[in-house]
Amino acid sequence: MVLDGRLCYGGDYNPEQWPAEVWKQDVELMRQARVTLVTVGVFAWSRLEPAPGRYTFDWLDQVLDLLHAGGIRVALATPTASPPPWFSLAHPDALPVTADGVRLHHGSRDTYCAAAPAYRAAARRITGLLAERYADHPALALWHVHNEYGTTCHCHHAEAGFRRWLRDRYRDLDALNDAWTTSFWSQHHSDWAQVSTPRATQYLPNPGQVLDFRRYWSDELLAAYVEQRNLLRAATPGVPVTTNYVLGDWVPVDHARWAAEVDLVAIDHYPSDAGPAAEEQIALAADLARGWARHGARHHARATDGDLPGARGSWLLMESAPNLIYTPGRMHTREPGRMARHSLAYVARGSRGAMFFQWRAPRGGAELFHSALVPHAGPDSRIFREAVELGGMLDRLAEVDAGVVEAPVAIAWDAASGWALQQRALPSDRIHHHTEVAVAHRALRRAGYACDPVLPGDPLTGYALLVLPALYLADDDTAAWVRDHVHGGGHVVIGYLSGVADEHARIRLGGYPGAYRDVLGVRVEEFHLLADGEEVPLTGGGTGRFWAETVRVAGAEPVDAYAAGVLAGQPAVTRHRYGDGVAWYVSTRPDEGTYQRLLDEAARAAGASPTCPDAPPGVEAVRRRSPEASWLFLLNHTASAQRVPTAGIDLLTGAVVEDAVTLPAGGVAVVRERAGA
Ligand code: GLA
Repeated sequence: MVLDGRLCYGGDYNPEQWPAEVWKQDVELMRQARVTLVTVGVFAWSRLEPAPGRYTFDWLDQVLDLLHAGGIRVALATPTASPPPWFSLAHPDALPVTADGVRLHHGSRDTYCAAAPAYRAAARRITGLLAERYADHPALALWHVHNEYGTTCHCHHAEAGFRRWLRDRYRDLDALNDAWTTSFWSQHHSDWAQVSTPRATQYLPNPGQVLDFRRYWSDELLAAYVEQRNLLRAATPGVPVTTNYVLGDWVPVDHARWAAEVDLVAIDHYPSDAGPAAEEQIALAADLARGWARHGARHHARATDGDLPGARGSWLLMESAPNLIYTPGRMHTREPGRMARHSLAYVARGSRGAMFFQWRAPRGGAELFHSALVPHAGPDSRIFREAVELGGMLDRLAEVDAGVVEAPVAIAWDAASGWALQQRALPSDRIHHHTEVAVAHRALRRAGYACDPVLPGDPLTGYALLVLPALYLADDDTAAWVRDHVHGGGHVVIGYLSGVADEHARIRLGGYPGAYRDVLGVRVEEFHLLADGEEVPLTGGGTGRFWAETVRVAGAEPVDAYAAGVLAGQPAVTRHRYGDGVAWYVSTRPDEGTYQRLLDEAARAAGASPTCPDAPPGVEAVRRRSPEASWLFLLNHTASAQRVPTAGIDLLTGAVVEDAVTLPAGGVAVVRERAGA
C-alpha cells in the first residue's frame, strides 16, 4: 500500500510559488479536504540548486516537516523536467533539436535532450542528493521521477544513441537495410555513419526508420528514468518509484513496456471534452492504465517478490483537472458534481485514488489559468467545497483498493502499431490503432462490458473474447498468439488493418490480413476507401464508414454484407470456426449501434455477460472484486434519477440497499454487494 490503507487524494503542490505564510494555510486546507498525498518538487530545480553546485534544500525540509506534522504523505519528485537557466547556458549541446534542425532555447520547461550526457549527469546528481537527504523522511511515501517523459530530440547525441540502439537490434547493416527496405528510393546504407534520425526531409520518410526511431527514443527516455529510479531504489528499497505518464498519440513512449520498470503505473489524464465524451475518454484511459499495470507486473523485476499491486491492475491517477479543461480555442468548465463523479470513474477502474494538477492556482507563470483545488477565488468557492466533498467520499472508499476490476473482454493495444499507422502514405489518414481501440472500447462500454487492454503475447486465460482493432503490426509470435488462442477454444473479433504488416511495417504478402488469414478463413484482395461522411449500407441494416474491403471467404461464413456500391453483395463481416474457437472479421467501421450489437453478440456467444445487465442506459457499472467482497460502482451520467437493482451497502451514504439503489441525476453509488450477489 502506498498510504497504509487510505486512497491517494491530493495533487501537485508547488510551495516554491508561494511565501512561507501560505504553506501553513495550505496544510490546514489540505486537512480540511482530507488530502492524503501531495506531489512536491516537480519543477523546483532552480529553487533547489540556484547556481551550479549551490544547494538550498532548507525550504523543502520545512515543507516536508509541515506536511508530515499535518499527517499528509509526500510523493517526492525529482525536478529533472525543468533544468534551470544556468544549466542550459553552460551546456548548449544539451538543448533539444527539432526534426527541422532548430535548436530550442530555454524559456519553457523540458528544454533538454534526454540523450545528452551533461543532462543525464546533472539529473543523476540532483536525484542522488534528494535521495540521500530525504531517504528517512517520515512523510516520504512515493518517489515521482521527472514529469511526463515525452520530449524528442534530433541532436548529435540522439543520433549517436539511435545508431547504438540499431546496432544492438540488427547487429549488421544488411539486416537494417532489409528491415527498412532501403532498396526503395536508393536508401541503401553502406556505413553506419550514414544512418540518421528521421529529420525533416524532401518527401515521404522511410517508414522503418521512423518506426525504429520511436522505439529507440522510448528506450532512451526509459534509460534516463531507470538511472534515476536505481538511485532512489538504492537509497530507499521500501519506497515505490513511479513516473507520471502523459497520454496522447504524439507521445514517444511505449507505456506498457515502461510498466515493468515502475512500481506503480501512474497516468495524467486531461480529457479533451468536459461533457459526455469525457466519460468515454476517462473509461478508456483508466482501462489502459490498468492494462499496462497488469502487463508490467508480469515482466517486473520484482514479480517474484509476491503480490505486486500492478498484478491486480492497480494504478494511480496522478494528475487531472479539478475544473477548467483546455480545449482548442477556449477552456471548458467542469459542471458541478463532475469532479467527484469523474474521479470515482477512475477509482472504479482500478485507480488507487484521485490526484490533481494542481493544489493552489498560481498567480503567474505559463499555466496561470489552469484549474486548481484551491482556485484563484480561494477556499470560499464551489471548487474547494467540491474538493472537500470528494475527500470525504474517498475516505469512505478505502476498502475498494483490495478489489480487482472484473473484465470478460480483452482488447489488444500496441504502441508500435499506433506509431506505424501514423505514417504518411497509408491508404487512409483517418484510421489509427488508438482511434480504433477507442471506438471498439466505446461500443463495448455502451453494451455494458468491462474490458482489459492486453498486449500481444499476454496470457488470455479468463477472457471470453479478444478484440483486435487495427492491430496493424504482427510478428510471427503475435500471429501464433492469436492462432493458438482461437484454436484452443478462444473467441476473437479482428478488425480491418490488423496483421497486415510485420514488425518492420513491411506488408505480409499473399492477401490481407497476412497474419490472420488462416484463423479468419478469409483473404482480402483490395481496400476501398470511403470519403469523409460517405456511408455504405450493410444488408443487416447498419452502415459502414471510412473503410471497406473486397473480402473473399475461404472457409468463413458471411454474417453481414455490403448492400450497395462496387462491393454490393460481398461479405462485410464474417465468422469462422477454427479449431475449437471462433474468429470474426469486420472489414469496415460499422456505425455505433451496429458495432455495439455485433460486439455484444460476439461476447455473448463467447460466454461473457455485461457487468450489470439491468443498469439503465447512461449508468456506468463497474465491479471490483476481492476474495472476500465485491463492490459495484454505479455512475449516473444522465440528468435524471436512475434506479438500479442491487443489494448490499452503499459505502458513500452508509445506507443499506435492499433490492435497488436510486441514483440522483449525476450521482454515484458504490455498493459493497451482499454475498452471493
Ligand atoms: C501536465 C503536466 C502539468 C501541467 C498539466 C496541465 O499534466 O504534468 O505540469 O502542465 O499538464 O494540464
